[in-house]
Amino acid sequence: MRDVFEIRAQDAGGRVGDLHVPRAGVTVETPALLPVVNPNVITVDPARFAEFGAQMLITNSYIIKRDEALASRAREEGLHDLLGFDGAIMTDSGSFQLSEYGEIDTDTEEILRFQRDIGSDVGTPVDIPTPPDVDRERAEEELRTTQERLELAETVDVGDMLVNAPVQGSTYPDLREEAGEHAYGTDLDVFPVGAAVPMMNDYRYDDVARAVAGAKRGLGSDAPVHLFGAGHPMMFALAVALGCDLFDSAAYALYARDDRYLTVHGTEQLSDLRHFPCACPICTEHTPEEVRRMPDAAREELLAEHNLHVSFTELRRVKQAIRDGDLLELVEARAHAHPRTLDGYRAFLDHARQYGASDPASKDTFFYASAESARRPEVLRHRERLERLSPEGHVLLTEGPRHDGFDECWYVKPPFGPYPRDLSEVYPLTAETPTNMDREGYEAAAKGVARLAGEHSDADFTLAHESWPADALDYVPPRVATVDLAEDLLTGPEEQTE
Ligand code: GUN
Ligand code: ZN
Repeated sequence: MRDVFEIRAQDAGGRVGDLHVPRAGVTVETPALLPVVNPNVITVDPARFAEFGAQMLITNSYIIKRDEALASRAREEGLHDLLGFDGAIMTDSGSFQLSEYGEIDTDTEEILRFQRDIGSDVGTPVDIPTPPDVDRERAEEELRTTQERLELAETVDVGDMLVNAPVQGSTYPDLREEAGEHAYGTDLDVFPVGAAVPMMNDYRYDDVARAVAGAKRGLGSDAPVHLFGAGHPMMFALAVALGCDLFDSAAYALYARDDRYLTVHGTEQLSDLRHFPCACPICTEHTPEEVRRMPDAAREELLAEHNLHVSFTELRRVKQAIRDGDLLELVEARAHAHPRTLDGYRAFLDHARQYGASDPASKDTFFYASAESARRPEVLRHRERLERLSPEGHVLLTEGPRHDGFDECWYVKPPFGPYPRDLSEVYPLTAETPTNMDREGYEAAAKGVARLAGEHSDADFTLAHESWPADALDYVPPRVATVDLAEDLLTGPEEQTE
């Protein structure tokens, strides 16, 4: 891996970074969205992409190579002039066609040289996009082939073109991890998580999350990661939180062709819209009715432009959220807009320990916005940090300041659990939480109490709680005395009743 990626800010697995693309002589700010350009079907002129905020696009070298006229123009003029785009250009290799049609008539060496010759800034070998749910033997065998091709790609003279090292492994997270580790060990530069398109087409964001999390475990934290084919703005925040730095969107054009209008909450049919819920130039200058009455090509272009605007706006929002330290609040808001992004967020939360490792120690106020917040990496990390604290004697764990006859008094705050009082003003204990906490929040706090008692067996603990639900209290071990403040007046360890 060449040293082309610099991370500027981080939140959960998300990062704002600079990808230096030497052949283009440009630095692309990540997370970056690369509009997909089919050189045969231009929906929005790439010369205008900068208007939307695109610094980089992706096109398919195999489509160009197969078309003699296009191929010779590309060789003579170069890809940038051919497309009329002066930013960075990534090219794909035909792997996607391989996965769609079963065969292609090129190979890694030939297509990489072609990509170099037409002036691509980031090329791609012919990896094998193994679909989801195949049997393990096939996933392993195809992964071996992909790995051989990455090793072959290392030997091709590509000049200063960067090269993608796709990470495959189907729906086997351990294979994704192994593939990530192998790819990171090559001297290739950018690491796309591959074959996610069939999962995304079926809204299987939980499987996407497991695939990305697996790949990330194998890749070094300094590796720039691309999510091939991820173009719907409703999942950008989640994909960034999982650690993806680059996306490509064919959705802006494909959806426009079918009169579909992208939003951060999902997809609308133009025919269903009385109002445009968007402030982009297209939506402020036209009504849905006007757009419906337009000729096909004009309608398609306007919808594609809106789709690009909404996608780049979401990406800017994601970048600002990383800078502000509230990316997971945004992910959670997006998760609750659609049941399948909620699946994806829950799968992310299953990896809270993995993602807690890269999270800043202190950031913007933690907002508890739903039961899912109880499983955020920050909650887990607080719980793990309890082992480094030193409670002594008989310790009262309390939601309020009552303290009588105990050696120490600690506060308990759902969902985090117990903490010494002098941490009250320290992140994440400054969290904003609802007046009526849910069961999951209490359960998480109870797990914190259990953790504290488990780590510090020399101290004694009394938990004074107010009306915690019984199933939350089930997590509190018997060696922690519990007092329900709604029933008992707490006077001290001696008089305490169970
Ligand atoms: N486009 C969408 N998915 C893939 C993939 O897995 N590999 C390549 N090369 N291109 C893709
Ligand atoms: Zn719009």
